Amino acid sequence: MVVKQSSFGDVTTGVTMEVIESPAKMQERAEALRLAGHTISLVPTMGFLHEGHLELMRVGKKHSDKLIISIFINPSQFAPNEDLGRYPRDTKGDLEKARKVGVDFIFYPSVQEMYPEGYQTNVRVKGITRHLCGISRPGHFEGVTTVVAKLFNITKPHMAVFGQKDFQQLTVISQMVIDLNMDIQIVGVPTVRDPDGLATSSRNKFLSREERISARSLKKSLDLADEMFRNGDRDARVIKKALESFILRHPHTEIDYVTLCDPVTLEDIQTLTDETLVALAVRVGTTRLIDNCVLHRDPDQIISEN
Ligand code: PAF
Repeated sequence: MVVKQSSFGDVTTGVTMEVIESPAKMQERAEALRLAGHTISLVPTMGFLHEGHLELMRVGKKHSDKLIISIFINPSQFAPNEDLGRYPRDTKGDLEKARKVGVDFIFYPSVQEMYPEGYQTNVRVKGITRHLCGISRPGHFEGVTTVVAKLFNITKPHMAVFGQKDFQQLTVISQMVIDLNMDIQIVGVPTVRDPDGLATSSRNKFLSREERISARSLKKSLDLADEMFRNGDRDARVIKKALESFILRHPHTEIDYVTLCDPVTLEDIQTLTDETLVALAVRVGTTRLIDNCVLHRDPDQIISEN
């Protein structure tokens, strides 16, 4: 579906949503909004919008008076062997969902517009991209930070909203914003889950009925980590092993990683401290899923132990 620059009205709210394909036009509009004194939130997406995205939009809308979302399947964050070609798309459904949430602008550029011939610049965050997904998806975060930096420059937001399901992505983008002195507030929103516990993701669409049942093991394994932590287990190796064998008991699962690490540096830890990130990447059938949680020691427990 080709959408040039068009407006979609909502008869119930009288609000119009504008779809803009051209980066120059989007930049012009964003600048005009700023000059008129508006605050702008950006929610970057790759489309095929689900409840998780809609929650990011609601948060963006609550904290600013103009909400821009971008829909762009960014080829530079996919390796040649990954699922770029089959990444799900639903432009018509996306526009309808965005309109209902009250999005003001959808930035919807083409690959050609984002990476024209002669394009030669990338943004790379070094240390924290060496862990977790950075190991099995080399170059992925460089693709993410490059496109997000471009989206920031094009849409000029005061605030940008990302999901905590992509914990490492959120950490990497926050680091980029600090390192490059970008004047943008980064907000992380808790993971939205379907009633069966599975974290919402555009890729869930690829799961067969049987795989979907197995995919529940990700959240259940995080619950297991939480339970072990509350029961006093502090040895990361023991917890990791328990989670791995729990997940592998479910058919069609193949573990990419189960990691217990520091939530700031993303460095592996051996002994759990007051705050530990448990992060997982698991292939279920042909679909790679990620999930995570942060284990916090109950403050009451710390007081009573002292
Ligand atoms: O999380 C995503 O959907 C993408 O990585 C993002 C942030 C839109 C960049 O392409």
